[in-house]
Amino acid sequence: MKAQHYTGLIDRYRSVLPLAPDCKVISLCEGDTPLIQCHNIQQLNEKNIKLYLKFEGLNPTGSFKDRGMTVAVTQAVSEGSQAIICASTGNTSASAAAYAARAGIKAFVLIPDGKIAMGKLAQAMMHGAIILQIRGNFDDGMRLVKEVASEAPVNIVNSINPYRLQGQKTASYEIVESLGRAPDFHCIPVGNAGNISAHWTGYSELAASSGKNVTEACGFCNGDCQFVSEPQIALRPKMLGYQAAGAAPFIKGSMIDKPDTVATAIRIGHPQSWDFAHAAVRESGGWFNSFTDDEILATQKLLASTEGVFCEPASATSVTGALHDVKVGNIPEGSSVVCTLTGHGLKDPDIAIKQSTAEMITIDAELESVKRAILDSI
Ligand code: F0G
Repeated sequence: MKAQHYTGLIDRYRSVLPLAPDCKVISLCEGDTPLIQCHNIQQLNEKNIKLYLKFEGLNPTGSFKDRGMTVAVTQAVSEGSQAIICASTGNTSASAAAYAARAGIKAFVLIPDGKIAMGKLAQAMMHGAIILQIRGNFDDGMRLVKEVASEAPVNIVNSINPYRLQGQKTASYEIVESLGRAPDFHCIPVGNAGNISAHWTGYSELAASSGKNVTEACGFCNGDCQFVSEPQIALRPKMLGYQAAGAAPFIKGSMIDKPDTVATAIRIGHPQSWDFAHAAVRESGGWFNSFTDDEILATQKLLASTEGVFCEPASATSVTGALHDVKVGNIPEGSSVVCTLTGHGLKDPDIAIKQSTAEMITIDAELESVKRAILDSI
């Protein structure tokens, strides 16, 4: 039997990525994340909704950012860059730090002072990034990064870097490959709005090759996926972009100067991919909506306790929106839905422990006490 060793998304999707054929690939075997179907949420079962969780928290640094970072850093290195820079609510900084370490170059990360989850900070520190904590929010950091990049020899690896979105579009390819078609709805948390834009690019590219199967279209998979010939629009999902209520410029219809939410990953008021995200939602016939912190945290807990999937608060926004839209009928019975879970729950243990009601019983270290605790709880 021929061994099949997965070597990351650049090797897999090279034919649809704008990289030079001879570039040195900087990869941590990102991508190829699982699409987990929910089985235990009653509301979905009653309405015959197939809801799949695209668990991007299982990327090497625990978030979807790795998809974009492998392509952005590979390109930066092939251009001879010695340093990358980003503003971040945490995950981009963790990913940039890891890929810079892998490439042997420097990473500078600007993070909002005191407003990033502990796990993410630990990652940036361990990977040896130079961390600049700014007295300001993500949007201030983004402005500074853009300004400094024109005056210092650093490559920006935020999602305004087009290579980032190219890498992130591969999630749509994986979903279509896995399901054999696009879902009816794709639900995604929106912060800086790069990811919703990247997904729409991926689905649109696949739709443009309608009538061919995926292998013929892109030459990347081994031919057993069905990519059926349907009218183009049927091959693209409606894109549903969900935000936290305290950081919802797409709902307000204009930028917000003081965004605030417990979902610190999407605590963003001035999204950079504003027009692109609007186009994705409009062209797909989708919509934006927002949800309170309490609703988002309740969904995070629901997923962890009923489906066994632990995502970070921002990620739970996608499922919060999906469940709401199923309930009110915006997502009709019998639909197939993919929700992106953008980051792993372990990124933000503080929030998880704070809201957890799990019972902790302290007992003596003896058999009788353990037995009594079990029998009392069954
Ligand atoms: N979910 C998580 C866990 C994120 O970290 C982010 C963005 C998003 C959703 C939103 O994605 O910005 O493409 O709309 N995090 C960035 C960061 C801003 O710096 O880590 P988006």
